[in-house]
Amino acid sequence: MNPTSITLLGGLTTDQFLAEYWQKKPLLVRGAIPGFTGLLSRDDMLDLSCRDDVESRFVSQAGGWTIDRGPFARAALRRKTKPWTVLVQGLNMLLPQADEMMRRFSFVPYARLDDLMVSYATDGGGVGPHFDNYDVFLIQGMGRRRWRIGNQTDQTLIKGLPIRILKDFRPVHDWVLEPGDLLYLPPEWAHDGIAVGECMTYSVGFRATPAQDMAEQFLVYLQDRVKLPDRYRDPDLKSQKHPAKIGAAMVDQVAEMLGRIRWNRDTVRDFLGSYLTEPKAHVFFDPPARPLNEKRFAAALAKRGIHLDARSQLLFADSRFYINGESATVARCDRATFKRLADERRLPAFSLDAASLATLHDWYRCGFVHLS
Ligand code: SIN
Ligand code: CO
Repeated sequence: MNPTSITLLGGLTTDQFLAEYWQKKPLLVRGAIPGFTGLLSRDDMLDLSCRDDVESRFVSQAGGWTIDRGPFARAALRRKTKPWTVLVQGLNMLLPQADEMMRRFSFVPYARLDDLMVSYATDGGGVGPHFDNYDVFLIQGMGRRRWRIGNQTDQTLIKGLPIRILKDFRPVHDWVLEPGDLLYLPPEWAHDGIAVGECMTYSVGFRATPAQDMAEQFLVYLQDRVKLPDRYRDPDLKSQKHPAKIGAAMVDQVAEMLGRIRWNRDTVRDFLGSYLTEPKAHVFFDPPARPLNEKRFAAALAKRGIHLDARSQLLFADSRFYINGESATVARCDRATFKRLADERRLPAFSLDAASLATLHDWYRCGFVHLS
């Protein structure tokens, strides 16, 4: 995408980064985001962890590793024995600046992106030495954090703990990250980040869906689309010695029947579009209380433009568009406009073909997009 070198990647071009580092080896970039000290204050972040529409975790090391899931009460957090850390997922869905920050990593396709997480830790706090199955960019916000990382093959975890802690962590690098520094880690690199004084860290995480999960979800998707109109029939039925036996002819007929379940590349594409844009369990949209009718909506669009809701996922493939688990076909003449909306997540004032207008109006009524 971007042929020029970028500060975010320490002067590498995005192509160089993808070829040399992505899913291959770590990269430490000092001053990746010059002047960056964070996107929100500690208090605002802890307030988020108290909301029931936000996914948060509390991890403590005091008296053995423990984990609690939010929402939390601020007073209860204040009483906790230090060191501890609180982690808030999906900051990109809660704060426009967080979404902007996450989109700085759009040299990796949105289909691979998961979310932006933020953590706050008291001095000495962290989640312990572990490995993740996904790529992550760790960006230091307020304060400093010491990161030790290693590429050990021994992934044995300590048994009986509520969180995943490596039994024998063998770091090969030891760095203290300052505000604005970035550390990229490929999947399965062992790491341990310990707050040096209180600190906040932002992580852009990616998807690493297990093939088994993908297969199971595909079968669920297929289940709603399979069409086998025939019925089991056996006009040639013969008497059999054991009435309890499932006859070979029955097995053959059902094998032939199920062999007629078909899918092709388009089915897989549509499954992926639906699967990748499906909102997470705690995500709900807020439809407008008094939506404009289609005619007024079109007029407003032509004056104000539109933007995606921070929680919306819009992806496309070929002529199909996928938003929050649903799919739509867009008229050829409007496809470039919809693609721009998907890439940039907003559009200046514009007008649309009637069929595409109905689609966008539908998305607006669902709360997936908003007039700017
Ligand atoms: C953090 O504590 O912010 C980072 C969590 C991790 O190591 O994945
Ligand atoms: Co991790």
